Amino acid sequence: MTPPANPVAAAKGLEGVVAANTRLSDVKGDIGELIYCGYNINELAGKVTYEEVVHLLHHGHLPTPKELTELKAALAAERDLPKGVIDLIKSLPKTTPPMHALRTAISALGCFDPECDDDSHDSQRHKARKLIAQISIVTAYFHRARQGKSLLPPDHSLGEAANFLYLMDGEKPSAEKESTMDLCYVLHADHGMNASTFAARVTIATLSDMYSAITSAIGTLKGPLHGGANEGVIKMLREIGSIDKVDAYIADALAQKKKIMGIGHRVYKTLDPRAPHLKRMAQILSAKLGEAKWIQMSERIAEIMLKEKHLQANVDFYSATVYYSLGIPTDLFTPIFAIARTAGWTAHVLEQLADNRLIRPQSVYTGPVGLKVVPLEQR
Ligand SMILES: CC(C)(COP(=O)(O)OP(=O)(O)OC[C@H]1O[C@@H](n2cnc3c(N)ncnc32)[C@H](O)[C@@H]1OP(=O)(O)O)[C@@H](O)C(=O)NCCC(=O)NCCS
Repeated sequence: MTPPANPVAAAKGLEGVVAANTRLSDVKGDIGELIYCGYNINELAGKVTYEEVVHLLHHGHLPTPKELTELKAALAAERDLPKGVIDLIKSLPKTTPPMHALRTAISALGCFDPECDDDSHDSQRHKARKLIAQISIVTAYFHRARQGKSLLPPDHSLGEAANFLYLMDGEKPSAEKESTMDLCYVLHADHGMNASTFAARVTIATLSDMYSAITSAIGTLKGPLHGGANEGVIKMLREIGSIDKVDAYIADALAQKKKIMGIGHRVYKTLDPRAPHLKRMAQILSAKLGEAKWIQMSERIAEIMLKEKHLQANVDFYSATVYYSLGIPTDLFTPIFAIARTAGWTAHVLEQLADNRLIRPQSVYTGPVGLKVVPLEQR
């Protein structure tokens, strides 16, 4: 297709620009629906596990019992990290923010994989599986290492969510903790052409490698306007401190034109369909913990933002309270998002490769023209 010779205007933030066809997920912003391969997220939530969603995104259908057993075994078999990556994780400064550690270690995994640049379909699928299995191990190991704790071998009898919690905490999670984390994974597994998925697709479209694509995605997810918002939510709740201070805090923040983390969305103009699931979990967990104030503050913020700015809570808003109530350190919230989203990122990379073309948009030049070089000594 011949592009327009002189594009007239840039769509700031590429708003409304369609960048790819995908069979993986559909974000219907006007009616607040999220679809994974034909299934509404409300149909999937609570009925399928994260591993079933991985199969759905990677094979286009929910697995049979046999396919699920095979996938779980295949993921469990990929959990052991190369020694070099473990050494690297241990050598990072303990003060490294976990998203930096994750980005660095995922990139390093490529250095230890002799298949890294093998572009055969089987190898790409294998690397996708390895990354899905290993990103949670990297996260848990870095968290243990920075506390000076021993790194436990993965437990192959546990599913993805339970094994992550086990490696992080050093004890097997309760059934409730496991199912809560699993549902969080399901809700975060894919989300159309979000910024980090776009970054992964741009990277792989140059025929770079799977590890580079996922490294790009992690670096992109990290920002507070994307996955980093969930950390910002807890920081804000802590700063506010109590329910009676919410109204004044938000009024002040809005007067200063500050963004309220966890609120608003580029595509959803109505409720983010993932938010009610997370809100329900946050309500149950906060009540059990005897710390209802977190969810009460969140609900009041959401109420004010809807009334004042017509903006709704997004996925990060209540997931923050869920993770906090599970006792997960704040700086691991975004890495957990990355763990779950690796299912979607890798599926998008494979989809891009199946019908690839270099992604190379244009820009509108707005600088000066016709300048003449003044000799160096006269400048
Ligand atoms: C998600 C987000 C980046 C979408 O951004 P966007 O589509 O580029 O929208 P804009 O930032 O241009 O915002 C449009 C308007 O809504 C306001 N707005 C958007 N989100 C806001 C928020 N969280 N708090 C306060 N105001 C907000 C903007 O100030 C702007 O107002 P204006 O037109 O009066 O200047 C944005 O809503 C945001 O920054 N949210 C907080 C971060 C977050 O939760 N990110 C996770 C997304 S899943």
